[in-house]
Amino acid sequence: MSKNILIINGHPAPEKSTAGSEIIRKLSELLPEAQVRHLAHLTSGGSFDVAAEQAALRQADAVVWHFPFYWYSVPALMKKWIDVVLAYGFAYGSSATALHGKQLLLSLTTGAGADDYQQGASMTWPLEAFLPPLLQTAYYCGMKTLKPVWSYSMICIPGVTDAAGRERILADARIHAERIAKELRDWEREEQK
Ligand SMILES: Cc1cc2nc3c(=O)[nH]c(=O)nc-3n(C[C@H](O)[C@H](O)[C@H](O)COP(=O)(O)O)c2cc1C
Repeated sequence: MSKNILIINGHPAPEKSTAGSEIIRKLSELLPEAQVRHLAHLTSGGSFDVAAEQAALRQADAVVWHFPFYWYSVPALMKKWIDVVLAYGFAYGSSATALHGKQLLLSLTTGAGADDYQQGASMTWPLEAFLPPLLQTAYYCGMKTLKPVWSYSMICIPGVTDAAGRERILADARIHAERIAKELRDWEREEQK
C-alpha cells in the first residue's frame, strides 16, 4: 500500500517561480498520488486555516517542504505557516503526538552557485550548515527526516536569464524532482520490508 505524501509548496509567489514550479509539476507527474498544497493560495493576509493545515499533516506519512532559499532559510510565508501550524498541543508538548514518526524531506533551490557555498566564498558556509534549524524543527515534533534535496544556481530573472539558461534551470528542476521521488520511493520500499 502506498504511503500518503504531502508536498507543501512554500513559494510566496508561485506564478513568478521558474525552478520551484517545474519541480512541483514534475513531482506531481512522478508521484501522482501526492497531495500538493501551495501556501500562497491557502493564505489570506498571512493567515492560514490552521485546522485544515493540521488535518492535511495528520493524514500524511511523509511531508515535503519545498521552498526557494530566502536569506538562508524558508520564505517568510512558510515560516509563518510553521509558526502557526506546528502549534503547542498539536506538534509539540507533552501530549502532542500528531507528527510523531512522519518523515520530512526538505527541498530547496538557491540562487547562488555551489562554489559560493564554502568557506572564503560569498556564502561562507556549505549549504548543509544552514539546515539544522529546520531539521531540528522536525525532530522537536517527533518527525524523522529524509535526505534533503537542493539545487544550486536556480535563479531565473526575466530579461536577464537567456533561453539556454532557462532551459538549464528547467532541466535541473526535473532532475531535482526525480531525486525527491527516488528518495521517497526508496523510503516506501524500506517501510514495506
Ligand atoms: C528575498 C530573496 C532572498 C533570497 N535569498 C537567497 C539566499 O539566501 N541564498 C541564495 O542562494 N539565494 C537566495 N535567493 C535566490 C532564490 O533562492 C532563487 O531565486 C530561487 O531559489 C529560485 O527559485 P524559483 O524560480 O522557484 O523562485 C533569494 C531570493 C529572494 C527573492
